[in-house]
Amino acid sequence: MRVAKTINETQAFLRNVRRDGKTVGLVPTMGAFHDGHLSLMQRARNEEDIVAVSLFVNPTQFGPNEDFDGYTRDFENDARLAQGVGVDLLFAPEAEEMYPDRPLTTVHVDGLTEPLCGAFREGHFDGVTTVCCKLFNIFSPDRAYFGRKDYQQVQVVRRMAIDLNLGVTIVPVPTVREPDGLAMSSRNAYLTAEERAVAPKLYEALQAGANAIRQGACGPDAEALIRDTLAAEPRFGLQYVSALHPETLEPATWSGPPMVLAAAAFLGKARLIDNVLVEA
Ligand code: PAJ
Repeated sequence: MRVAKTINETQAFLRNVRRDGKTVGLVPTMGAFHDGHLSLMQRARNEEDIVAVSLFVNPTQFGPNEDFDGYTRDFENDARLAQGVGVDLLFAPEAEEMYPDRPLTTVHVDGLTEPLCGAFREGHFDGVTTVCCKLFNIFSPDRAYFGRKDYQQVQVVRRMAIDLNLGVTIVPVPTVREPDGLAMSSRNAYLTAEERAVAPKLYEALQAGANAIRQGACGPDAEALIRDTLAAEPRFGLQYVSALHPETLEPATWSGPPMVLAAAAFLGKARLIDNVLVEA
């Protein structure tokens, strides 16, 4: 596995492989790898000639009161894990390499960024789309792999790629879960043992909502069911529960699928998000 700290090194490596007509898949990450990240890399490994991973804790997508400083950074371990799944290129730049000057340009996606996390994390998605646009321009990947766990992120990045003709196909990858159903996340490390025991209830509540949808419930009724289920556990500091159209992310006023059910809640210091897609 080649480790590159600079954009120049990365592009020199990619120029060589492109000359041989090889496909390139990119997996953008912020490190602290768990099986969710590794499943994206494995999927890319199965589908691409060259698998590139970017590891960059992007400051512009964190709010002033969020966990940028406390975010887990363990480059040696991450590099070992990436190598273990056959990654070819690991791009791990310093902030000065990505943002040598205060950027005056931001990529903003309208509409899709307004509900869900967008309503609670001001500027977050502008940070995500801007850094992803930069990464897509640096790598020119054929495909980029994103986890369904961050459902809104996939929709927003996909729309940016289409609207700006970035020439990259966004591949959504299913959420990897712990055996008890909790979606894997680097932020699960913030949970105390007691909070960890309660955490799977978020997914359980979403699944109960999904079953109601499959039996013909409307969006608002599914939301109420999920809220009531979560209210039984007072440790959850609920931010939102939303039943939305899976692509437009508009409120689901109809009954039955298709729908995506998404929720975000604080549990102690950890902000947990999860979602269930109920396909037609
Ligand atoms: P990060 O949180 O490191 O996640 C990197 C990728 O891993 C994202 O596409 C995310 O959806 C995926 N992922 C995380 N947990 C997962 C799980 N349990 N199952 C499947 N996939 C999972 O998301 C980001 O970084 C950043 O916003 C980024 C896109 C890199 C831009 O900075």
